[in-house]
Amino acid sequence: MRFLSPRLLAIAAVSWLFDVGFATAAFGTAPPATPILAAEDACSSLQASLGSTIVQSSGGKDYSSGTSNAWSYLNNQQQPSCIVFPQKAAHVQTAMTAIYRNNARYAVQAGGHSAVTGWNNVQGGVLIFFSRMKNVSYNATRDTIALDPGIHWGDALTQLEKFGVAPAGGRLNDVGTGLLLGGGYSYLAGEYGFSSDLYVEVDVVLVNGTLVTATASNHYADLFRALKGGANRFGIVTRYEVQAIHTGRISDKNWFGGLIMYPNSSADALIQAVEKYVRTVNDPKASILMAFSNVVNGPGPRSVQDPTPAIGPMHILTLFYHGTSLPSNIFGDFLAIPSVTKQLGAVSYIDAQNILGNGGDRGYGQLFGASVLQGGAGLDQYQAAFRLWSNYTSTVRSNSYATVLAFTPIQVSQIQAGRDKGGNLMDPPLSNYAAVQIQTQMTKGLKDSSGIQGPRQQLFKELPRTPGYPLYINECDSSQSVFETYGRYSEMKTTYAKYDPTRFNVRFTDGPSGL
Ligand SMILES: Cc1cc2nc3c(=O)[nH]c(=O)nc-3n(C[C@H](O)[C@H](O)[C@H](O)COP(=O)(O)OP(=O)(O)OC[C@H]3O[C@@H](n4cnc5c(N)ncnc54)[C@H](O)[C@@H]3O)c2cc1C
Ligand SMILES: *[C@@H]1O[C@H](CO)[C@@H](O)[C@H](O)[C@H]1NC(C)=O
Ligand SMILES: *[C@@H]1O[C@H](CO)[C@@H](O)[C@H](O)[C@H]1NC(C)=O
Ligand SMILES: *[C@@H]1O[C@H](CO)[C@@H](O)[C@H](O)[C@H]1NC(C)=O
Ligand SMILES: *[C@@H]1O[C@H](CO)[C@@H](O)[C@H](O)[C@H]1NC(C)=O
Ligand SMILES: *[C@@H]1O[C@H](CO)[C@@H](O)[C@H](O)[C@H]1NC(C)=O
Repeated sequence: MRFLSPRLLAIAAVSWLFDVGFATAAFGTAPPATPILAAEDACSSLQASLGSTIVQSSGGKDYSSGTSNAWSYLNNQQQPSCIVFPQKAAHVQTAMTAIYRNNARYAVQAGGHSAVTGWNNVQGGVLIFFSRMKNVSYNATRDTIALDPGIHWGDALTQLEKFGVAPAGGRLNDVGTGLLLGGGYSYLAGEYGFSSDLYVEVDVVLVNGTLVTATASNHYADLFRALKGGANRFGIVTRYEVQAIHTGRISDKNWFGGLIMYPNSSADALIQAVEKYVRTVNDPKASILMAFSNVVNGPGPRSVQDPTPAIGPMHILTLFYHGTSLPSNIFGDFLAIPSVTKQLGAVSYIDAQNILGNGGDRGYGQLFGASVLQGGAGLDQYQAAFRLWSNYTSTVRSNSYATVLAFTPIQVSQIQAGRDKGGNLMDPPLSNYAAVQIQTQMTKGLKDSSGIQGPRQQLFKELPRTPGYPLYINECDSSQSVFETYGRYSEMKTTYAKYDPTRFNVRFTDGPSGL
């Protein structure tokens, strides 16, 4: 296949980098009276037990790599009291024990792609950063892949290519394993479920420092399920063992598809095609990601008289079929809509993963927000989402580089595949729906999101949403009560109370509300 020109690829990658985080939402959990002192006590005790290579404070050789890694610039503004760079699970146990004893605030960072401010870094607390735990291996006897938490999906794919296997991860290479804890959408989802549905065994350090191994059928089966959607609330994962998917080597062009870019004049037809796809397609081998994007900083001021930036829309569809062509009964509408560029052909799974670029650009404040629309919600709801997003872009354009409205269809086959493997916390009804994501990429280097928070919250209030369907924690805003939308919310609360009876995690770590 022909690949995109670098410039178009950059636009495509950029369009994915948007999102909308939210700095000001409070979590209703009172911090301890002297949080910084508590963290400093934990840090000095950890430095004594683990040494100054593994535990570094400001001025340490790797400290700044840990405070500048986060994808959202808003998450690079916090200065932890110290950063722990674990090399094995035992280091995480030692760290968590000290954090727990000292009542210190803490955060965990894996790939760094959270778009919620405060969810992967912490001001004046202990940051556990997995940059030194990046191993990945394939066990052919078990047909499983073991992933250290610090690996990024692209590196995992590269290292596993020689075996012709891949984990179900995400759709951009720079993203990390925190994706699994929130569920995970991949081009493999129709056949295998949410990415976390493929867990075989998970090693977890509980809040009190105890290390346990959870599987679908052992003593920790409840914890195992809670790690499929429970985000950072149920402990710190030090190893994921997941089912290997035999995607083939890079020379095996087992998928057909690619990327289509559309002009804004195709927007109305695209909305109709997305609505129909979500409502009607239930073929495990089919997958699309429809991203409507508005690049604000590209085209420059609208005119000399009006210096506010113009808006340059560019709508990007990725579409793949695990087979040798794109069946027209599934993809025909999208193929017929007038486009700017079409890059379609036979591709390997790794080619498919590269289609949107790697998603690794840094330096922009990034904020997400989520909605969900059931397949039969009606075209008017999809149209309303588009209209509200367009209007939102105009409202926030002075503070923004770009905004995106993305649709990920979740089909019955994906939900069923997850149920067949024991289920996850989201537990959606057995019916097609779309995860809807709004992303705001702020102006480069801008640290203050207050100028866009009012319109964002207004947008989340007004966006149509189908009740009874789960919001996606990995694409949400912190003000959204995502856990409460889960099918297994009450089970989740019971499991949380069992593994964290003093609610230490909720009190000492920023993360999703509802527990
Ligand atoms: C460019 C881009 C593309 C994306 N594409 C997709 C996609 O295709 N499919 C999809 O499903 N999602 C996608 N996402 C969303 C993605 O799932 C989330 O951003 C996810 O949080 C990323 O995980 P991470 O490890 O990179 O981030 P991090 O910020 O490091 O981690 C995310 C959260 O999980 C916690 N965490 C991480 N590791 C651990 C651990 N071992 N133990 C306990 N807690 C932990 C962190 O504390 C943080 O709260 C995308 C995001 C971006 C920015
Ligand atoms: C990662 O692999 C290296 C080399 O094989 C090994 O020395 C190290 O112990 C491994 N790390 C973990 C956390 O398993
Ligand atoms: C691979 O799995 C087999 C079967 O469970 C096990 O005996 C073996 O030790 C594993 N290999 C490695 C390297 O972990
Ligand atoms: C893009 O198209 C939509 C739908 O037709 C329209 O509402 C919107 O104003 C257009 N945007 C621009 C910047 O032209
Ligand atoms: C557009 O957004 C502004 C600011 O949030 C709001 O006042 C206005 O009502 C919106 N218009 C429409 C048509 O939604
Ligand atoms: C740690 O917490 C778990 C879950 O609550 C509990 O079973 C275990 O006994 C605790 N361990 C210690 C050492 O307190």
